[in-house]
Amino acid sequence: MKYFFLSILVLTIISCKKKNDDDLAFQLIYPSYFPTPVYNFKNNELTKEKFELGRKLFYDGILSSDNSVSCGTCHSQVHGFADHNVNFSSGVNNLKGTRNSPAITNMIWSPAFMWDGGVNHIEVFSVAPITNPVEMNETMSNVISKLNNNSEYKNLFKIAYGIDNITDQAMLRALTIYMSMMVSCNSKYDKVRQGKVSFSTDEAEGYELFKQKCASCHSEPLFTNYQYKNNGLDSIYTDLGRGRITFNANDNGKFKVPSLRNVELTYPYMHDGRFWTLEQVLEHYNSGIKHSATLAPELASGLPMTADEKKKIIAFLKTLTDYTIISDFKFAPQ
Ligand code: HEC
Ligand code: HEC
Repeated sequence: MKYFFLSILVLTIISCKKKNDDDLAFQLIYPSYFPTPVYNFKNNELTKEKFELGRKLFYDGILSSDNSVSCGTCHSQVHGFADHNVNFSSGVNNLKGTRNSPAITNMIWSPAFMWDGGVNHIEVFSVAPITNPVEMNETMSNVISKLNNNSEYKNLFKIAYGIDNITDQAMLRALTIYMSMMVSCNSKYDKVRQGKVSFSTDEAEGYELFKQKCASCHSEPLFTNYQYKNNGLDSIYTDLGRGRITFNANDNGKFKVPSLRNVELTYPYMHDGRFWTLEQVLEHYNSGIKHSATLAPELASGLPMTADEKKKIIAFLKTLTDYTIISDFKFAPQ
């Protein structure tokens, strides 16, 4: 009898814990040293149902014209939600764009999207890949009618958003909820900041060098200052970058400073995926800076680094890999 009660008690504790874990899994959790997110969930409160619907949409080819390409095709979890080892991802009909698919974790902190910042709200972002001929090549009206003809989606939108007719707004908001949960904050760097582990000697020295040479643009804790900078890739620009949006010649050749979280996994690098390794990236800053009118002044004489310094900076960059998010089953196609 005693054992019977004890096992009931144990079972109750286990099941309570399970429930709490489930609830916790659908709260937005980020460290105290992160700033307040730009996206505030106003009019789109975070719920498990919306998250699961957003995840289903993210991995569903139904958003593309021939049902073959999903968001997940170009934003792969194991690569920190960047591309699969290609400089330009293939969309519908195997067409390729001219820019590298960026990692899309921590998007709710980003004030603007795309390498050139051409989209300024995450809730409208997904219209861009859906309607881009070299990505999903679809029209919004066609996506919405495909979804409305699908009884499973009808039901899921009813549960998540309480609507009988699926609208583009609800679809975009569900995708936003799924992306908003992609918070990458469990790297070794974070554990060091939280006092749980320490850096190795190389990592610690690399961190100091990083702060001197790189952090003016790749600022902690998100490893970007979200500004547009020309980091000296070309002297003649084939892609005008920010200038394409502002039509201001002073912005030509500038691109949004990318976050370096999970950078070990998100190769190839730069807006056109021209570098395949971190060694090549560091060699670019060391000896490859190309001069032009809009080059960031702090890069005018390059960032000279010895072989040993480069090695240490790379050791530090690898502490930004977050194994939790790349293996978290809740982000995988179910
Ligand atoms: C064919 C590949 C492809 C598909 C499919 C695709 N993307 Fe992307 N994604 C890209 C590329 C390339 C960029 C960078 C585009 C640019 O800067 O011009 C990008 C950029 C983004 C960004 C902005 C990242 C940043 O740092 O500014 C987000 C968010 C995003 N995609 C989400 C999605 C979602 C959601 C879907 C599905 C609705 C999707 N993508 C479908 C390739 C793709
Ligand atoms: C003046 C600002 C600035 C400084 C300083 C700077 N970067 Fe960058 N970095 C950028 C910009 C802008 C890009 C994107 C350029 C592009 O793709 O056209 C970038 C891209 C990168 C990328 C590629 C990321 C990706 O996902 O494609 C890496 C890696 C990187 N920088 C590492 C470093 C390191 C390491 C240092 C210091 C040695 C450094 N950066 C210093 C502005 C800067």
